[in-house]
Amino acid sequence: MTVDRYAVAGNPVAHSRSPTIHAMYAEQTHQALVYERLLCPLDDFAATVRAFAAAGGSGCNVTVPFKFEAFALAAKLSPRAQLAGAVNTLRFDEGGWFGDNTDGAGLVRDIERNAGVVLAGKRVLLLGAGGASAGVLGSLIAARPSEIRLANRSVGKAQGLVDAHRDWAAQHGVQLTACSLTECGSAYQVLINGTSASLAGAGVPVAPEVMASGALALDMMYGPAAEPFLAWARSHGATARDGLGMLIEQAAEAFELWRGVKPETAPVLAALREQVQ
Ligand code: ATR
Repeated sequence: MTVDRYAVAGNPVAHSRSPTIHAMYAEQTHQALVYERLLCPLDDFAATVRAFAAAGGSGCNVTVPFKFEAFALAAKLSPRAQLAGAVNTLRFDEGGWFGDNTDGAGLVRDIERNAGVVLAGKRVLLLGAGGASAGVLGSLIAARPSEIRLANRSVGKAQGLVDAHRDWAAQHGVQLTACSLTECGSAYQVLINGTSASLAGAGVPVAPEVMASGALALDMMYGPAAEPFLAWARSHGATARDGLGMLIEQAAEAFELWRGVKPETAPVLAALREQVQ
């Protein structure tokens, strides 16, 4: 029996939890597959992924810093990948690769189903305008909060993302605006951190007043990288949540795209939570 091969392509990938998650999904759904780590040289993403496909790979997840390059490699794109301008899941279809972006759906599912916070009608503040925020903005809009404010150190970059999502936001009745980190207003019910400020050793780049009492404050990272933001949020009375649930949910969406079956995420999140504090 041949076993289908998948991988997470990135740099670095050594600490990626994706192989563990997909192995659990495969076992749970009785799918015969292997899922590996594919370390890609920074200047050789395309050739590395092509070689993996030529060696029998069926698809891959794509992580930092290659999501924009993966977008360029796809012959066909899902509407959500098109909107994000970035791809985190490739399926190596004959006749042209299919590119999708499951990050936003994963985030929304984690907020709504796992954290139990309905986004419809809420005021949302999204910090950062890099790849992480670009990947999730379309799905956040589709969840129909009343407002999304995109705050970034470089306001021009936030404005660019807002412009790219203007029609999508109008279609969903969402007020979407860009602002600086120091003038982003107050009392948001949902705060999402998509900056890499903590990796740079910087503090949380906004004032605690941005959070309403009892707000949900979610960092899209997990592990030590998320800790400064989560500690800050907790100390100001918010419900803090890391990006582990998002990771598991986006993986489930990718698994479904490849295998046609959606795995149960709750047991996998519980198992991973034991390993990641
Ligand atoms: P990613 O693809 O992980 O989102 P990125 O494209 O480098 O990474 O984006 C990083 C984000 O974190 C950006 O929004 C960046 O702000 P700028 O666009 O102004 O560069 C933000 N960021 C990084 N370090 C920061 C810091 N010390 N304070 C505030 N924002 C920071």
